[in-house]
Amino acid sequence: MEVFGLDIGGSGIKGAPVDTATGELLSERIRIKTPQPSTPEAIVRTSVEVIRKAGWSGPVGCGFPAVVKDGILRTAANVDESNIGFDLKSALGEALGEEVHLVNDADAAGMAEIKWGAAREEYGTVLMVTLGTGLGTALFTGGHLVANTELGHIEIRGEDAEHRASDTARKRENLRWRAYGQRLDEYLNRIDALLWPDLIVLGGGISKKSDKFMDRLSVRARVVIAEMHNEAGIAGAALASVSEAERTGELA
Ligand code: BGC
Repeated sequence: MEVFGLDIGGSGIKGAPVDTATGELLSERIRIKTPQPSTPEAIVRTSVEVIRKAGWSGPVGCGFPAVVKDGILRTAANVDESNIGFDLKSALGEALGEEVHLVNDADAAGMAEIKWGAAREEYGTVLMVTLGTGLGTALFTGGHLVANTELGHIEIRGEDAEHRASDTARKRENLRWRAYGQRLDEYLNRIDALLWPDLIVLGGGISKKSDKFMDRLSVRARVVIAEMHNEAGIAGAALASVSEAERTGELA
């Protein structure tokens, strides 16, 4: 099946048509900066622009950096607060005249890594951690997703973990890689003590620079780098629109 994968982020809105059998992007990805302020209307407008620019008509799978329940956005950590309560699934569907499926962005990336990437054929407890504008998590057991985990917002040293260990935090505080690695290690150790995952997959923009901080990590669980890098969000968003039975068929 061919589905347009749309990855809405705090800094960019990216998308491409995806072959949901292979995870392959079928043409070059289109990226437009996330409008500021990132109000629901502006996000819908820019999303439509990305999809039109790609010349796509057909179903759309979309990842968004928030808790998503029944197509409705329930949180807004890195987008305008007016998104809370917004029915993005319906609004985008109506604007496009197409069927739209909406999931949390980290859940989308995790689904792609489980199906095609660093966590394929991993049947235990897997935690995907995305390090980008925000700090996102996706939790799987036996290949099944526990949707909308928000473990990027646990408290560490009195602060939101995302505020300490996301890529934005690294840039904002101008942290050296060594210091950033220690921050990340502290975060992963806390998560490890709470969930005891078998595997942690690190993704998001920063995963490309993993050689700069991997040697700082002391966490018990096996830690690997996402294999699909910044394509995971797009491929996973498309994949999320396929039924779970179909998606996890190989793992069941
Ligand atoms: C949001 C999550 C999102 C993550 C990564 C966090 O701030 O709360 O929903 O998955 O950022 O974008």
